[in-house]
Amino acid sequence: MRSIKRDPLPKRTNEEINQLVNDLMSKMTLKEKIGQLYQTTHDGAAITGPSYDASQNKKLINEGLIGSFLGLYDNMEIYRLQKEAVENTRLGIPLFFANDIIHGCRTSFPHNLAMACSWDPKLIEEASSVAAYESSHSGINMTFSPMLDIVRDPRWGRVMESFGEDPYLGQLYARAYVDGYQQDDLTSYDSVGACAKHFVGYGQIEGGRDYNTVDMSERVLRQFYLPPFEAAVDAGCEAVMSSFNVYDSVPATANKFLLRTVLKEGMNFSGFIISDYTSSGEIINHKIASDMKEVAKKCIEAGLDHEMVSNSYINHLETLVNEGSISESLIDDSCRRMLTFKYKIGLFDNPYKNIYLNFEDYWLKDEDRQKAKEVALNSVVLLKNEKVLPLKTKKIALIGPLAKSNQVIGPWCGKARDEDCVSLYDGLKRKFGDAIEINYSLGVDYNSHDESLFNEAIEAAKLSDVIVLAMGEQQWMSGEAQSRASIEVPGGQLKLLKELRKLGKEIVFVLFTGRPLDLREVEKNSDAIVCAWFLGNESGNALADILYGDYNPSGKLTMSFPYVVGQIPIYYNHLNTGRPYVPEDFYRSKYSDIPNNPLYPFGYGLSYTEFSYTNISFNQEEDEVSVHFTITNEGDFDGVDIPQVYIEAKSFSVSRPVNELKGFKKVFLKAGESKEIIIKVKKKEFAYYNIEMKKAVESGEYLVKLARNAEDIVSTKTISFREEIK
Ligand code: GLC
Repeated sequence: MRSIKRDPLPKRTNEEINQLVNDLMSKMTLKEKIGQLYQTTHDGAAITGPSYDASQNKKLINEGLIGSFLGLYDNMEIYRLQKEAVENTRLGIPLFFANDIIHGCRTSFPHNLAMACSWDPKLIEEASSVAAYESSHSGINMTFSPMLDIVRDPRWGRVMESFGEDPYLGQLYARAYVDGYQQDDLTSYDSVGACAKHFVGYGQIEGGRDYNTVDMSERVLRQFYLPPFEAAVDAGCEAVMSSFNVYDSVPATANKFLLRTVLKEGMNFSGFIISDYTSSGEIINHKIASDMKEVAKKCIEAGLDHEMVSNSYINHLETLVNEGSISESLIDDSCRRMLTFKYKIGLFDNPYKNIYLNFEDYWLKDEDRQKAKEVALNSVVLLKNEKVLPLKTKKIALIGPLAKSNQVIGPWCGKARDEDCVSLYDGLKRKFGDAIEINYSLGVDYNSHDESLFNEAIEAAKLSDVIVLAMGEQQWMSGEAQSRASIEVPGGQLKLLKELRKLGKEIVFVLFTGRPLDLREVEKNSDAIVCAWFLGNESGNALADILYGDYNPSGKLTMSFPYVVGQIPIYYNHLNTGRPYVPEDFYRSKYSDIPNNPLYPFGYGLSYTEFSYTNISFNQEEDEVSVHFTITNEGDFDGVDIPQVYIEAKSFSVSRPVNELKGFKKVFLKAGESKEIIIKVKKKEFAYYNIEMKKAVESGEYLVKLARNAEDIVSTKTISFREEIK
């Protein structure tokens, strides 16, 4: 590879790019235009579709029949493929290269459901710009991120890559990810294109079983599932990925209502729509197409611009046009979108812009590890603490499968490596060296019921002042295609917990998980519970700081932890029903064997200190409502609190949720410090899709609530709007 010049790339107006695209398209054959609509992979791994011989890639490139690749990190291979496209095809149109950089490239940040608990869009933007920097120096031009699925079912393994159950937070995070990746300058050598996914509704799969059926009303679609995508599109994300599931019994990938009516027209989306991996070919399994020719016809008519791995487009679109079954204008529109992206990102000016042979020099920089630690510290959620944390003693038992494990990245690990991760054991030793006595035992493995090490664990506990358990899921128990029917802590871990409880010593349960779990037994048998998710490279360092009080945990859950799997789906912004639960009334919406409420609700998280809210007042002005209060750190620890504001319509033309998050503030306070806080909610935030399916603020009364979490309401005020606002 000759040395690649990296001159600043020209910044062009949309008009200039349109002109360039028009000029280029005027020279392209129909076949070459179709070639721009195909994304292939380097290893031919077509999971459900027809596998093919990847060695054909060079031939396909030479014929101009490949527009992009996914799944490559090898800069030399990327260079070879790009050189082939630029130098050995008729028009020299460059390829683009995409990858799944979901929560970090080489520097591994906490997975997305963990990061969401920071309630810190700015921090997530910073994490995303690090991921963009490492990716854009590893041959990558686009990341298949952010994942913007609303999730309400922890049986689904992919909740780990989501931001949780709330659309308001989802909108803030969508913008943060897109801004972090694209940095408002796609010609920069440090940015990558963003691809919002999965469009749409994938998180509501029945039974929490991945790839299963989805069925929802248009109102639920518009009110809950679309807002994060609207925010991503508004933030300028360059691509949207269609999802595997159906909407209204039509696969999203071939769903004209979703792709054209809702996204391209409704949201005025000018980027491109890419399918998910073979999701176009899978419409045959969905039984709406009988062969790949029909797949091509249905998907291009629905508005799918770029086909990932399935190859219906390059094999059938030309025939479909030539036989008059589809108009060439459909292909022109998709081709235009693909070429526009390539011009915007500067690939026509410098096709090799993101290829660096010395790519490792850009990875795992100290400041990026520090940023990863900062994000990890902000992602941890303290679920219980009966005054046992922060730890004082340096004589601890450290027991469990995650104690010495560096497998703390979580699924969708990009180029991150377990060996770059700090285990909890190592984090404690790094922090205290020989000043800490750690009596270690594996105790039991993740999914094992083998009790042969129980006695070793019990002996380790007997030698110690406090028992720290590092337990939970193995990192690959969540992620894609990893749905679980049970959400219990797996294997014999709970049995060991109960055995250790008999010793009468204080127990700190550090939970490693990619999803909310059923923690009833953990809650009963532990004095403290720290939700550590999978925090990435800096896991052990962050947890050591938290366990010993050098960082006061501030995370708040963005996905409810069910009391038990039977409660699912469970989420805070549910409707009231006609028979809301009242303890003394029998004929009410309830279970005979468990409570209705989750074990830990949306917005919940403890601190080592206490925060009081006083002098609370509510103020309604022309176009906003504001909540004023004094927040005081009443304890001995500096810390961060995240007061939240929810609204509730007392009556509306359709049934609305009992709670809707509409504002929050992340506030740092020194011990004893007070601050005056104002949280404002614009009137338009009170809007909801009304009976005519129009977003409106109907006249009437609304509750405005200052809260610690979705269940702990501190103060409520009734306000009213006199006239309807569309
Ligand atoms: C996967 C995932 C999607 C990912 C794509 C490419 O099946 O559904 O999130 O971006 O394929 O790897």
